[in-house]
Amino acid sequence: MSVDDPFSMIIFGASGDLARRKLIPALWSLYAARTLPEPFAIVCTARTDMSDGEFRTRMRESVGEFARLHPPSEQVWERFAAALCYVPGDPTSPDLYPRLEGRLGEIEAKLGAANRLFYCATPPSLYDDIVEHLGTSGLAHSGKGWTRIIVEKPFGRDLASARALNQQLASVFSEEQVYRIDHYLGKETVQNILVLRFANGIFEPVWNRNHVAHVQITVAETIGVETRGSYYEEAGALRDMMQNHLLQLLCLIAMEPPVTFDADPVRDEKNKVMRALRPIDPTRLDQIAVRGQYGPGFVGGRRVPGYREEKGVAPNSMTETYAALRLQVDSWRWAGVPFFLRTGKRLPNRVSEIVIRFHRTPHMIFRRDPAGVDPNVLVIRIQPDEGLDLTVAAKKPGPAMMLSPVTLDFKYGEVFGEESPEAYERLLLDAINGDATLYARGDWVEQAWALLDPVLTAWGRTPDPSFPNYEAGAWGPTAADALIARDGGTWRNP
Ligand code: BG6
Repeated sequence: MSVDDPFSMIIFGASGDLARRKLIPALWSLYAARTLPEPFAIVCTARTDMSDGEFRTRMRESVGEFARLHPPSEQVWERFAAALCYVPGDPTSPDLYPRLEGRLGEIEAKLGAANRLFYCATPPSLYDDIVEHLGTSGLAHSGKGWTRIIVEKPFGRDLASARALNQQLASVFSEEQVYRIDHYLGKETVQNILVLRFANGIFEPVWNRNHVAHVQITVAETIGVETRGSYYEEAGALRDMMQNHLLQLLCLIAMEPPVTFDADPVRDEKNKVMRALRPIDPTRLDQIAVRGQYGPGFVGGRRVPGYREEKGVAPNSMTETYAALRLQVDSWRWAGVPFFLRTGKRLPNRVSEIVIRFHRTPHMIFRRDPAGVDPNVLVIRIQPDEGLDLTVAAKKPGPAMMLSPVTLDFKYGEVFGEESPEAYERLLLDAINGDATLYARGDWVEQAWALLDPVLTAWGRTPDPSFPNYEAGAWGPTAADALIARDGGTWRNP
């Protein structure tokens, strides 16, 4: 890839939240940081009727509100805005596509190249239509440059629908052209998991069943469903977070070293983890999975309504806003090491982290203070306090041999000073550069659904009469504590 490879990005669903909060602000920040290849054009389309000028004004506001780099200097903004245009139209109607083609034709003549990156930022129900029309209209096959497509999550709602979507994409694009986004993979700290594991010699020897007692992966949010009640009703925590973000994190922790940090080797290794995950036995679900739904409560000292009182949510909703799983990776490295995953909305803190809890020392020589020695714990803090810490035992100063846990702490903000780029910045740049390492491959997505399908089916069939079973502002239902306690563990609640 050359840094001055001209390209056009065509965003479907451009009047929506994703474009406003994430995509345009990320493209702007890349541009303002001089990392976006030039020249480029951003062709936006959605049903809302708007002129180029109106769209640019809206995006100027979004950038002011959401971009990492702001406020934009007016001159630089004007240059960026000149590359933005808007084509109103219904993506389910074939009429839109010749109009897009016309606009693209003019733009590409000026750019001198026909490299196209399509972005499906619409509700998933429109993906099929968009892909089909991109194929039949010929837009997906300019023949004069590269063509790629980014597909937002949720990628399907179960195995069957994910397969159907993969097939639909495959009828128009080759797998190398399809970029399935999972924004967690674009987070700096998530990428750092691989650096921690594979650029340091000291972790690999202990990264296995001989030293690791269990692994916890927590993605906790304080927010509720905000304005997305009707989407969330159909999704729930398992589909919204577990199937993608948490399972991706698990793969990065559990995978074998890839030969190089490139798309195929990395994604091959992640697939092997998925294949090694023990299928979930629906008859033993109570030992493996816990679901929860928040009732009213207090978060950050503020009273908040229960899930069933949120806008767009049914008063007797059975959708889970919390999910915890106990998974096992049946491999030589991980045999017998449980992986506990949990995610929920309206929990006490916004925190995403991975906890590697090591075994106790085999023999304690400091007999006077046996209680003082906790096993070592490595915490990889994904957000918000990005960094890692390792807890070790130390001798307390004084004549007696008393022990105390101390923490060796690395904080991204303190060490590197600068603000990390947004996940979308990294991911968009990678797709423009043709690097799919941080994107999900079709077979991975299907395996993730295949793993969770038995839980989705069982939960869909059997309502949970205990809902709502945790108060907003609590760490989820008590059954989740029992889930980890059966293996002698406790959740780390930061
Ligand atoms: C999205 C989910 O994928 O991730 C949202 O759909 C969730 O429900 C969000 O709030 C969390 O992302 P982040 O980057 O804020 O942890």
